[in-house]
Amino acid sequence: MDDWLASRAAVRERRGQVRKTEPQPGLVDLASNDYLGLSTDPRVIAAAAGALAGHGAGARASRVVCGTTDAHVELERALCRLTGQDAALAFSSGYTANLGVITALGGPGTLLVHDAHVHASLLDGIRLSRSPSVSVAHQDTDGMRAALAGRTQPRAVVVLESIYSVLGDAAPLTEAAALCAEYDALLLVDEAHGIGVAGAGRGAVHAAGLAGAAHVAVTATLSKALGSQGGAVLGSELLREHLANTARTFIFDTALAPSAAAAAAEAARIVLAEPGLARRMLENAALLAKRCGSAAAAGAVQSIAVGSSERAASLAAGLRAAGVAVGCFRPPSVPDGVSRLRLTARANLSAADLDRAAGAVARAVGAA
Ligand SMILES: Cc1ncc(COP(=O)(O)O)c(C=O)c1O
Repeated sequence: MDDWLASRAAVRERRGQVRKTEPQPGLVDLASNDYLGLSTDPRVIAAAAGALAGHGAGARASRVVCGTTDAHVELERALCRLTGQDAALAFSSGYTANLGVITALGGPGTLLVHDAHVHASLLDGIRLSRSPSVSVAHQDTDGMRAALAGRTQPRAVVVLESIYSVLGDAAPLTEAAALCAEYDALLLVDEAHGIGVAGAGRGAVHAAGLAGAAHVAVTATLSKALGSQGGAVLGSELLREHLANTARTFIFDTALAPSAAAAAAEAARIVLAEPGLARRMLENAALLAKRCGSAAAAGAVQSIAVGSSERAASLAAGLRAAGVAVGCFRPPSVPDGVSRLRLTARANLSAADLDRAAGAVARAVGAA
């Protein structure tokens, strides 16, 4: 085994595809997903501390054994209020939420139609569900229609991200929802990068007037704009009940830590009460895009294609040396030859940090 591990490591090294897991203190952060700066908001921290004192460090069991606390119940209510959905079920992460909902809805009788660029957790759910599936080209609503029109299965689910995690563009939610209504399919939208960002923070599904629609469901992560940890599926009471009884990543997984649940609930309350936060983040995103010579993205994620993985790695390392952390997306996160720098804006970036970091990126990618 060791020889094989060493040979794989050498290949990654040669291709510029080595990922590091080291802390990166002291850098201007254009890499994290803490879009609204809520992970360090004193109100969010106080809510987590209160739950830590009241419930202890861990949930101690699965939600369906004795792991459900009032923090989980309150979180699900807060998420419903924020997104306008009828019901929510919290999971231990966005990843397990995606695996759970897709495997619980999938199987031989369900056709899964998905955009080719959906997140790894959605693709893994599709594989694990053993459903027939069709991958359509990115943003291709004609492809979606063809797949739905030709289906032979009794059920179908269309899987999209509201704002794509790597490319940063927005899905055509209105058209996709209309197609799903026409072909009696469910639209499942991963709002990992939409909640807290689009629609004054309430998400792209809410902004499109689709919250509460019977043929639309949402998955969320609590670890990005909500600054905490965990995930959720939002939709009808019937869907929630089905997932609580059949989603294996819900039933056979220890519940989300109560402190993370309480932090996310407080963050959801803040996002709803303070729409200016999302606005500020989007203003910073637009400034960042302008300085880097690219068109403004739909949300916080600005994606700059830089070619080979070696070039992406070398640009990211140069920026790190200049005091700026950026995301560096290489295979297998993206196909070969289209590696990217992924820049994320935050509401709490100071003007000075934004100016310094944007200048460094612009120089690195040749936009200055
Ligand atoms: C689109 C998308 N879905 C799901 C996830 C997984 O969320 P989590 O980090 O909460 O597991 C991510 C995060 O990396 C994501 O970008």
